[in-house]
Amino acid sequence: MPSSLLLDLLVVALVVLVKSSPLEDKKVNLLVILPKDDKYMFSIHRVQPAINYALRSVESNASLLPGFTFNATYRDSDCGNQALFSLVDTALKEQKPDVVLGPVCEYAAAPVARLASHWKLPMISAGALATGFMQKVDEYSHLTRVAPAYTKMGEMFLAMFRYHKWSRAALLYSDDNVERNCYFTVEGVHTAFKEEGYHMVVHNFDEAKHVDVEDIIHSIQNKERVVIMCASSDTVRNIMLAAHRQGLTKGDYVFINIELFNSSSYGDGSWRRGDKHDVEAKQAYSSLQTVTLLRTVKPEFEKFSIEVKSSVQKLGLAEDDYVNMFVEGFHDAIILYALALHELVKSGFSKKDGDKLVQQMWNRTYEGIAGQVSIDPNGDRYGDFSVIGMTDLEAGTQEVIGDFFGIQGNFELRPNLKTLWGTGRIRLVENKVFETITPCKSCGLGESAVTGIVVGALLGTGLLMAFYFFRKKYRITIERRNHHDDCNIGKHRQLREDSIRSNFSAA
Ligand SMILES: *[C@@H]1O[C@H](CO)[C@@H](O)[C@H](O)[C@H]1NC(C)=O
Ligand SMILES: *[C@@H]1O[C@H](CO)[C@@H](O)[C@H](O)[C@H]1NC(C)=O
Ligand SMILES: *[C@@H]1O[C@H](CO)[C@@H](O)[C@H](O)[C@H]1NC(C)=O
Ligand SMILES: *[C@@H]1O[C@H](CO)[C@@H](O)[C@H](O)[C@H]1NC(C)=O
Repeated sequence: MPSSLLLDLLVVALVVLVKSSPLEDKKVNLLVILPKDDKYMFSIHRVQPAINYALRSVESNASLLPGFTFNATYRDSDCGNQALFSLVDTALKEQKPDVVLGPVCEYAAAPVARLASHWKLPMISAGALATGFMQKVDEYSHLTRVAPAYTKMGEMFLAMFRYHKWSRAALLYSDDNVERNCYFTVEGVHTAFKEEGYHMVVHNFDEAKHVDVEDIIHSIQNKERVVIMCASSDTVRNIMLAAHRQGLTKGDYVFINIELFNSSSYGDGSWRRGDKHDVEAKQAYSSLQTVTLLRTVKPEFEKFSIEVKSSVQKLGLAEDDYVNMFVEGFHDAIILYALALHELVKSGFSKKDGDKLVQQMWNRTYEGIAGQVSIDPNGDRYGDFSVIGMTDLEAGTQEVIGDFFGIQGNFELRPNLKTLWGTGRIRLVENKVFETITPCKSCGLGESAVTGIVVGALLGTGLLMAFYFFRKKYRITIERRNHHDDCNIGKHRQLREDSIRSNFSAA
């Protein structure tokens, strides 16, 4: 029927018109997929003020993206499959977004990153830190990570081990088999060490059940001298207390705790609980070093953090730390996207050219809210890390004793600080002990080694806060780098097994 044909044509023409309208081209739809649940450090409520702040600064820059407007839509990731459903529902009911921000949780991020890559949509996250996401060639081709991933932390450990001339370690981590934060964290170390041929012994435990710390220490004693741990701060303390009781805290062993995000669980006085073990814990912590993310600040950061804090406080979220690595990261994600889009538009492309946009975001350095952000050629942020150790054994003061700068790849100890081991390289009699040791049969990642797993991620849970004021309070030194210088178990788990590739197998 001609009339319906006419109608069709009209519709098509209209659609074409709308699609190519410059107004539409200058309207950027952002889909932010993060958990609604405020128990996560990167909940929508916590991140939204940072995104608003970033969008305002982009829109107020007359030379950056003149005439562009941004429409941010927030959807729940629920830290799981809901993330994918949110993306699909939004695309079906409304339209495909121009860019996806988040998710952070590994198991939520994996399917979203695959679909985004299939649709050629840029996806930028301050999470998705697992090793598997490095695979950009096909699977995660459109994913850009604006927070340092666990493999970057692995590089830091390698540099640290080379510095001290260590070549073997025990890896201890808690594994809930659901979110698997520590699993993915330790996987980053394991990947780096495996490549280097270092000897590793791996033990895991479930903190929800009884953790036999005496047994753990016993299995290390006289076998491994360097112990790398990822667990809750209470478990770390219990392990340190057990090590102290067994005489492992006299300087012959080094314990290293990984706590990248939750600044309330490390730093000065983290051994203190106000219980009868405080004195012993203080002594034990002289053998403990903590690896965390190096944070930077600059004048503008203060304004940003005050604004984020006041927005979050209005929602009744009272806490010490308002601006954490995720909040900061999503701000910087917007800036990165805007810079890339600016360059794209300048060279005659549009926001729809997803491949080009992604390439524009990789292999570059730009100014983030707290300092420089450098993205490597694979689209992952370079990581700078700090090592915190006890510098006053009497008072039990903990301060930054070492730094790692990801771009340069060099690990340095601060010269003026005294630790249990004195200054400089920590010498351990690593080799003596080990020749007689038979390789551990069951030390792999056990079942998890069998199938590639992944994405555990709740980076969330584990990941928490590192706030500037907090850090100040605890006198954890913040580097002020001048940027002018160069410087679910059972069934659920089975379902998840293959959802992200992992090579974490120590067997
Ligand atoms: C605005 O954007 C331009 C182009 O990217 C950049 O060079 C300039 O520093 C920005 N101005 C401000 C005030 O951020
Ligand atoms: C923003 O995007 C959402 C989802 O795509 C849409 O429903 C809403 O109408 C948009 N708002 C504006 C002001 O364009
Ligand atoms: C951060 O660490 C503190 C102290 O150990 C703990 O009470 C808090 O629950 C942690 N936060 C998260 C989100 O894990
Ligand atoms: C990254 O950028 C540098 C210069 O900015 C360039 O020399 C190098 O070839 C780029 N690397 C890749 C893999 O694109």
